[in-house]
Amino acid sequence: MAKKELFVAKQADLPDGERKIVPNGNYEIGVYRVNGELHAYRNVCPHQGGPACEGLLMAKVEEVIAEDKTYQGMRFNHDEMHIVCPWHGWEFDLRTGDMVADRKFRLRKHDVVERDDGIYVVA
Ligand code: FES
Repeated sequence: MAKKELFVAKQADLPDGERKIVPNGNYEIGVYRVNGELHAYRNVCPHQGGPACEGLLMAKVEEVIAEDKTYQGMRFNHDEMHIVCPWHGWEFDLRTGDMVADRKFRLRKHDVVERDDGIYVVA
């Protein structure tokens, strides 16, 4: 089937840190602008089909272990943002769509095109 471009938003209407979910026939596509980068994924979780793109967007949580192997607590790593599926909490790397606990699972990625004043997603 031929690919098509779907209009997502005008540039000004998708500010940094925001997402927009656009319909495309019998599924939706979530489009994110985070740290100046655009990413788009099908809004279908590979676990049980939940609306992953409607979930929280949060920084990776890391456990901090000191050189002496003592546990120092947890911290947020804002260099790796995660999409968290609202149904059962599977987390996906915003940059790749990979499920972070098992990277053989992933959200289906869509290309994003910026043209003139608009943002489009390839479906
Ligand atoms: S459907 Fe997404 S985590 Fe279960």
